[in-house]
Amino acid sequence: MSFDQFPRLPQTPVPIAIIGAGGIVRDGHLPAYSKANFPVMGIYDVDVDRAFKLKERYPFIGNVFTSLADLIEKALKTKVVFDLAVPASNICDILEQIPIGSAVLIQKPMGENLEEARRIFNICQKRQLVSAVNFQLRFAPYILAAKHIVDLGLIGKIYDMEFKVCVSTPWHLWHFLNGKSRVEVLYHSIHYLDLIRFFIGNPVRVMASTIKHPNAVELEATRSSIILDYDQYTQARILTNHGHIYGPEHQESYFKIEGSKGAIKIKIGVSLDYPKGELPKMEYIIVEDGKGWREVPLIGGWFPDAFIGPMASLQNHYQGGQQSPTHYIEDALQTMQLVETVYKSSEVEGIKFNYFSENKP
Ligand SMILES: NC(=O)c1ccc[n+]([C@@H]2O[C@H](COP(=O)([O-])OP(=O)(O)OC[C@H]3O[C@@H](n4cnc5c(N)ncnc54)[C@H](O)[C@@H]3O)[C@@H](O)[C@H]2O)c1
Repeated sequence: MSFDQFPRLPQTPVPIAIIGAGGIVRDGHLPAYSKANFPVMGIYDVDVDRAFKLKERYPFIGNVFTSLADLIEKALKTKVVFDLAVPASNICDILEQIPIGSAVLIQKPMGENLEEARRIFNICQKRQLVSAVNFQLRFAPYILAAKHIVDLGLIGKIYDMEFKVCVSTPWHLWHFLNGKSRVEVLYHSIHYLDLIRFFIGNPVRVMASTIKHPNAVELEATRSSIILDYDQYTQARILTNHGHIYGPEHQESYFKIEGSKGAIKIKIGVSLDYPKGELPKMEYIIVEDGKGWREVPLIGGWFPDAFIGPMASLQNHYQGGQQSPTHYIEDALQTMQLVETVYKSSEVEGIKFNYFSENKP
């Protein structure tokens, strides 16, 4: 049995105008666009040197622009998709300058908090932007395959989902995180919250704790335990510890889905040695066929393959496709609502434990 791992590509890809020339564009966007043969008409970054460096590394980039106005002026002459990959707090300013009616893919997170997410949403509405948020994990080859398995009903009704991440994350790569009041959930576990919503929708109850790690004292909370309850039988959990510095032996990064007829387990390789990554692995079991756990040979992983789908499906829609992309802005706003609820839950203190001796005279 084979399962979908490729997104549907646009027949004639629209040129892409990239804003932001940082790490994620270097390691995710550009390698993916190169692989999918998506044309990049130009790139702009406030730090012009970074944009020139990327042009050197990826000669298929059309032009380096030294101002946003110049990029927009050139873009107005043709049809483009704007591809924003800047720190979340800078998204609104840029969106206000994007021409009305344009298509825009916005790198996650959608703002630093729910208030900013609503501002982003409102700007997109006001400027009639065809917009989506780059929740690319939904499009990783193993997730497309897992969704295909689930949609075929092969593992039955899902009642349990689990993400476990015990890795050493190089937080120093993101200087802009220093001083931010939200780190782990907003910048990392947001992918998992989004993915859980993609599979089983919004939970009815959230319990969470996100706390600091002694190896990352300069950052706010980088370790999270999140429980999402659905009906009386259905739960999803996210457990992350990004400060496991004791070698690869006991590092873990997986996503597991359990259903009434079977299960799926995926090793997410990229988090184990970010951003180079280890190879991912996907296995599934369908109880009634008696064949035990089987491996799905994967055609790629999160980096860079997952970055093809968000752009492809936005372009398909922009070019007249009926269906909104799954990661359209209204849906992304719900993921931001869930992120906000996780932080709210973490702020509420759990039940205080007051130790008392049972052996009082
Ligand atoms: N898997 C993922 O989805 C993933 C992974 C890493 C980062 N990200 C997100 O991508 C965004 C960028 O992260 P990064 O790792 O590339 O960070 P980075 O610091 O390497 O790069 C950010 C770039 O944006 C530029 N920039 C800032 N403000 C700008 C503006 N107003 N106009 C043009 N350029 C501007 C900076 O000069 C810098 O080059 C962040 O929001 C981050 O959360 C997503």
